Amino acid sequence: MAHHAAAYTAVDLAEDHRGQAIAVNDTAVGVLAAAVSSAGCRLLHLSTDFVFDGKSNRAYLPADQTNPLSAYGTSKLGGEHHVLNRAVAGIVLRTAWVYAATGRNFVLTMLRLMREKEQLSVVCDQIGTPTWAAGIAAAIWGLIEVGPPGGVYHWTDLGLASWYDFAVAIQDEALVRGLLRRAVPITPIPSAAYPTRARRPAFSVLDTAATRALVKAPARHWRHNLRIMLDALRTPYVFITGGAGFIGANFVRHWLANTQQGAGGGVRCTDLCRQYRQLNGPGQGLTVCFREGRYL
Ligand SMILES: NC(=O)c1ccc[n+]([C@@H]2O[C@H](COP(=O)([O-])OP(=O)(O)OC[C@H]3O[C@@H](n4cnc5c(N)ncnc54)[C@H](OP(=O)(O)O)[C@@H]3O)[C@@H](O)[C@H]2O)c1
Repeated sequence: MAHHAAAYTAVDLAEDHRGQAIAVNDTAVGVLAAAVSSAGCRLLHLSTDFVFDGKSNRAYLPADQTNPLSAYGTSKLGGEHHVLNRAVAGIVLRTAWVYAATGRNFVLTMLRLMREKEQLSVVCDQIGTPTWAAGIAAAIWGLIEVGPPGGVYHWTDLGLASWYDFAVAIQDEALVRGLLRRAVPITPIPSAAYPTRARRPAFSVLDTAATRALVKAPARHWRHNLRIMLDALRTPYVFITGGAGFIGANFVRHWLANTQQGAGGGVRCTDLCRQYRQLNGPGQGLTVCFREGRYL
């Protein structure tokens, strides 16, 4: 199984760089789907809730009509078609609203703004499901283990929220953990008051029931996973240089094998990092960071 997580993910920039987004998220996926299939391998490809227009009044099923509102969503939908039509038993796994203890994401941005600003305004009319990246990783491993039929699958955490609800929860949970010293007022605002280059679906909750029935990965409410992730922010980091080297690689393998993401046995860590990669800890444990062949 080949797992394709690379993508052009700058949603707003994609509006002005459509060609680039199409090249990476659509055309390249077609090339990859054909190459992977001719090598006798299956392809698991990540996609997004942004393939939907957000007009549904219930959670989106994998087979529901797509209608992307943005260049990013359109390019990702193109990639999905290649995986479904050109790969042998290709798997499209859609997810949404992803955050983790590392990398650029909504939770870390909110924590920074809550430290820097006296008040925040956050959009309250876009509804989705905040989703912990480590949970997606577990679901991916679950799918690889099961080897399900080709097709479209959905995975997010459980429940739903607006970005405003999510921001309020982040602040509350961070205060309890001492990650913030004081609360700032958070004001709910409509999307119209926070214009972005790309249009986003107003409602993009994904129905994950079919995938949950298939894989052993635990599906948890988003707030539960938010707590685990914030706990992880308080745990120590281990920085590894030479993560692709003999000892470094074995250290990373050991870490993978001994965490809840440990279904990663057999992963070659050199495949996990192109330049600088951060692997999220399981919450109670460590966050391991390494960079292939170079010092951080
Ligand atoms: N984050 C979300 O909220 C979210 C929601 C729904 C779906 N998804 C999907 O989940 C997948 C992973 O997203 P992510 O959040 O992990 O995105 P990300 O943090 O932006 O990571 C994207 C990865 O793609 C690589 N990449 C970009 N352009 C490339 C190219 N031309 N050649 C090779 N590698 C390239 C990047 O490498 P460099 O860093 O070295 O450039 C990076 O490792 C994507 O398919 C995305 O559409 C994400």
